Amino acid sequence: MPNALKNKLIRVAEPYIGKEEISHVNDCLKRGMISGFISGDYLEEFENLVSKSCGVKYGVATTSGTTALALSVATLGLGPGDEVLVPTLTNIASAFAVVYTGAKPVFVDSEPVTWNLDPEKLHRHINRKTKAIMPVHLYGHPVDMAPVIKIAKKHNLKIIEDAAEAHGAEYHGKKIGSLGHIGCLSFFSNKIVTTGEGGMLVTNDRKIAERARFLKNLGYSNREKFLHTDLAFNYRLTNLQAALGVAQMSRFKKTIEMKRKVAQLYTQRLRQVKGLQLPPELPGSKNVYWMYALVLGKQHPNRQTVREKLIKAGVETRNFFYPMHLQPAFRSMKIVSKSYRLPVAESVAKRGLYLPSSPKLTETQIDRISKTLIKILKD
Ligand SMILES: Cc1ncc(COP(=O)(O)O)c(C=O)c1O
Repeated sequence: MPNALKNKLIRVAEPYIGKEEISHVNDCLKRGMISGFISGDYLEEFENLVSKSCGVKYGVATTSGTTALALSVATLGLGPGDEVLVPTLTNIASAFAVVYTGAKPVFVDSEPVTWNLDPEKLHRHINRKTKAIMPVHLYGHPVDMAPVIKIAKKHNLKIIEDAAEAHGAEYHGKKIGSLGHIGCLSFFSNKIVTTGEGGMLVTNDRKIAERARFLKNLGYSNREKFLHTDLAFNYRLTNLQAALGVAQMSRFKKTIEMKRKVAQLYTQRLRQVKGLQLPPELPGSKNVYWMYALVLGKQHPNRQTVREKLIKAGVETRNFFYPMHLQPAFRSMKIVSKSYRLPVAESVAKRGLYLPSSPKLTETQIDRISKTLIKILKD
């Protein structure tokens, strides 16, 4: 194989766009059915397909995963004086969504196996102000939801699942997104299902779905359209994007199988490396391996060195998220103090990275990436 081709950059994620996506989008364009308000035939279909895939009754499409989360917090009526428990290891969107309403995110440490929120550490943060928990199913592996649900029931808390990275994952036979009061998905280009940008709030609660639909659409009412009772948003996904999403959903199961195959091929090759922590699949959980995430051992070269050598070999990687409780944005807003420490997340965040995880990666590419990584770790 020529060197130039062999070393072509393998990206962490590439969208899988087929002929059907192109024909659906063209169909919208030809008919002028492009917006997300009046002309939304694909939108309804997309909402139905996605809510069904999460095992719930209702889906409310939004402009992004971030706005699905923000809409959820607003729909539950949370605001100043309220607190929401959010894992510190997550995309900043989870925490921003809480802050937008004036409520306060309270950051919770991770457990060391899946790197998800540690349910055992929830208790210490619960007080009179606590109104909700936002478990985030990181990198495609479900949070251990049974204890989270138990604690939420005990303290009368709402659960908003951030399922942006875990569409299609399962927990003891139940679909991720159906385990709390609301589930939120992202359809950004690196997600399991993409609409370019996009998101969805999914729920089994009709009142929540109706309120969310009302709030996402500037609070236009059925009775007197331009008379507004509430502060609302334009979080409307377009029909054009939903058309792309409908085509993507026709391949949903296949995409997940491909993602799982990619993970299996990596694990076969990397499990021999001493001290390297690979993504788990705990009993009762189905991981969709949104990203093939791993944590370097203390005996390995430092992460920066590993990543630099990988990129030189044409392999793109990303660091784990920077913990929320260390974010300058939240320190300057006085949401967290400098002395606030969450040791498990801090340790994992320093040594975690993820490898290319596109569903269409070939076995040859996975072989090359794995061999390169193994060599770097031994050096
Ligand atoms: C856990 C998590 N939540 C929320 C989001 C935000 O989604 P979006 O980029 O669609 O706004 C992301 C984005 O990747 C994410 O990883």
